[in-house]
Amino acid sequence: LQTDDAQYLCSLIRTIPGFPAEGINFRDFMPVFADPRGHDLLLQALIADLPVDTNDFEFIAGLEARGFLLGTALADRLNKGFIAVRKAGKLPPPVVSQSYDLEYGSATMEIEEGLVPAGSRILVIDDLIATGGTAWAAMKLFESVGCSVAGFSFVMELQGLHGVSQLDNKPTSSLMVMP
Ligand code: PRP
Ligand code: ADE
Repeated sequence: LQTDDAQYLCSLIRTIPGFPAEGINFRDFMPVFADPRGHDLLLQALIADLPVDTNDFEFIAGLEARGFLLGTALADRLNKGFIAVRKAGKLPPPVVSQSYDLEYGSATMEIEEGLVPAGSRILVIDDLIATGGTAWAAMKLFESVGCSVAGFSFVMELQGLHGVSQLDNKPTSSLMVMP
């Protein structure tokens, strides 16, 4: 993006200190989607910064919930299929499940079985990578059905949490990296 466009896009991301818990700086991307120019710039930036060539994947997977917004829009622009990676209990059976560790406790993500043919290559997209647990679980889900993750695309990376180091050295791009 041009500098003024990049500044405009950044100006639409709000930071809310202390939400949802003390010590967290919550990054809110909803104002970007509320703004047609911001939304368009965000998709343009993600496409310009893809971690791999568009010929290197057939599907885009979005991670619930904000990854759905990015993933469907991007899949439409790139003429790819879209796959939802959801929190446990939302998708009808048969599903494939993968649990992962949170700072305290654990969580589970799921995909519907049979949506992606074995051998498919997937670009995983989300708004933000923190610990990397959610993105890691998505990678394991696709691997468990005989597919591979071609790369990961994030709008923002919280670098201090080293989430990207969990992703098996897959090509990764983050539009914004925060300490
Ligand atoms: C956020 C974000 C990622 C995840 C990153 O989603 O959109 O999906 O956390 O965290 P991690 O790298 O530590 O796994 P959240 O769980 O808040 O869900 P939501 O998008 O449904 O609100
Ligand atoms: N998910 C995990 N950490 C987050 C943060 N700081 N802002 C928004 N979503 C998050």
